[in-house]
Amino acid sequence: MSIIRSVDVIFRWQDKLPHLNDTAVVVIDTLRATTTMATILERGARSVLPVGDVDKAFRLRMSNAHTLLGGERNNRPLPGFDAGNSPFDYPESLVRGRLVVLTTTNGTQAVERVAGAPWVALGALVNAQACAQAQMAAFNQGLIVCAGTEGMLALEDVLAAGAIISYWPHDVRSDSAHLAYALYEQWHENLFEGICRASHARTLIRQGLEADVEFAASLNIYSRVPKRQADQWFVAE
Ligand code: MLT
Repeated sequence: MSIIRSVDVIFRWQDKLPHLNDTAVVVIDTLRATTTMATILERGARSVLPVGDVDKAFRLRMSNAHTLLGGERNNRPLPGFDAGNSPFDYPESLVRGRLVVLTTTNGTQAVERVAGAPWVALGALVNAQACAQAQMAAFNQGLIVCAGTEGMLALEDVLAAGAIISYWPHDVRSDSAHLAYALYEQWHENLFEGICRASHARTLIRQGLEADVEFAASLNIYSRVPKRQADQWFVAE
């Protein structure tokens, strides 16, 4: 039996998903959830759990006093959160050795949507190459699920999807994978300028969060990938 490689991209987590069996799924929310979760783990957190629901996130924090609760609604941390959804909210001095529960508007919902997949990792520009390599090593079929913003396609997610796709062979890319790659090819020499075309980037910049956008445009600064474990928590591997 021949083993056929393929890679596909879903531009919004609400869209129809293919069958997820034998598929390595990378979830992307470049601004900012997956960039931030990758950073939390790089700064030494033990593991991160993305949670869609705020009440569930609070319950999880209460069940273990050593757990940090972070995330956002309307791009800002809610009252009672320990930190927001900015990578700069998680210095090593805060996160080393900690468990972190994160709840955000779109990114953590996207992760929950692919709960049935056998292999799930968190991707962004910061770890694009490592994601592609881990994904290809895990299964022949790769799927990239973009979080989008409020139900709409998000340019910054397509850009990061294109960066991951750039490491996959040309002849295994779906139409949407080719499209994501074309966007990345257009901006790969100036990712910050490209990301600034995105409406969510402009919103964050208006809110004084330009440093977060600039940080999210950093390509391949991490060589590890947040990978889901059997207990649903993500660990950098
Ligand atoms: C989200 O999950 O919707 C985003 O990460 C929002 C944000 O930029 O905080």
